[in-house]
Amino acid sequence: MEDAFRRQINYLRIAITDRCNLRCRYCMPATGVPLKSHQDILRLEEIVTIARVAGRTGINRIRLTGGEPLVRKNVVTLVRELAKLPAIKEVSLTTNGIFLSGLARALKEAGLSRVNISLDTLKKERYRYITRRGNISSVWQGIHAALAVGLAPVKLNVVVTRGFNDDEILDFARLAQEEPLHIRFIELMPIGAAAASAGGYVSMEEIKSQISRVYPLEPLADLVTNGPAVNFKVAGGKGSIGFISAMSSHFCHRCNRLRLTADGKLRPCLYWDGEIDIKGPLRAGASEAELAAIFARAVTLKPAEHHMETGWRQPRVMSQIGG
Ligand code: 5AD
Ligand code: SF4
Repeated sequence: MEDAFRRQINYLRIAITDRCNLRCRYCMPATGVPLKSHQDILRLEEIVTIARVAGRTGINRIRLTGGEPLVRKNVVTLVRELAKLPAIKEVSLTTNGIFLSGLARALKEAGLSRVNISLDTLKKERYRYITRRGNISSVWQGIHAALAVGLAPVKLNVVVTRGFNDDEILDFARLAQEEPLHIRFIELMPIGAAAASAGGYVSMEEIKSQISRVYPLEPLADLVTNGPAVNFKVAGGKGSIGFISAMSSHFCHRCNRLRLTADGKLRPCLYWDGEIDIKGPLRAGASEAELAAIFARAVTLKPAEHHMETGWRQPRVMSQIGG
């Protein structure tokens, strides 16, 4: 499907829950965020129906997000149903990794292609601090399990915050050299608890120049997808490095995605409040053709670009939008 700015929209991110087992400081307050009632959250069959409709409109890749998708019961069954849809050629997942080691094999067997794992620090105490409750050893077990069962390429998402974890940039780069991992540095966006600190990000240029003084980087054709990341191979290393620079450089002209929130709203843009309800029509008995028309409308509503640098602030946190 093509949007008003001639972008091909073929990728759907589905938040399958608004719940999370962590409380990352830049994402949520310690007490968490108000959660939707069970009734408001899409049932698994409803998600599959919407994904099938999405497939009719040109979506061919799906990513499951949250909240934390692995806290949702029957996530393996969901993956299996989604992977079976003929139009969908890839199902992937973004997780904090805490529950991944126990599920990696079952997810792979159900048809999951790959995983992105959020890990902002390599230090145990710092991880506990930033997530307020997570144990980094569980995440490492998850990473190793993902590599062992072939959920590849395994990507690590690293949100860089000035004065907090920017001293670990080279450690992450070394990890990309030594292990077959793809490290993605993400500029902190003014969303959620980070909304107050719009200047807290470290720019892609700064990170890249710091790394390339030690580890020569070679441009890499887009890794698997043409999403927002700009990717590099670490010369002579096993892994690679990518940058998602929502703040310092707009990648909106390459945007290829729609989002579905856990409570059944289609979101044309991460950083815009516009959304279209698809759960209501679905529960009211709309046909798949009618639902496909709702998809088409959401695509036409995609804005040309986000405006994070302006005063408007996204009122929802990441776990409510679907990372
Ligand atoms: N800015 C950038 N990334 C964020 N994430 C959550 N909140 C923010 C923010 N304000 C990241 C998580 C995860 C991904 C889904 O989104 O760390 O890697
Ligand atoms: Fe952390 Fe992601 Fe959970 Fe937010 S949704 S608390 S960023 S793991």
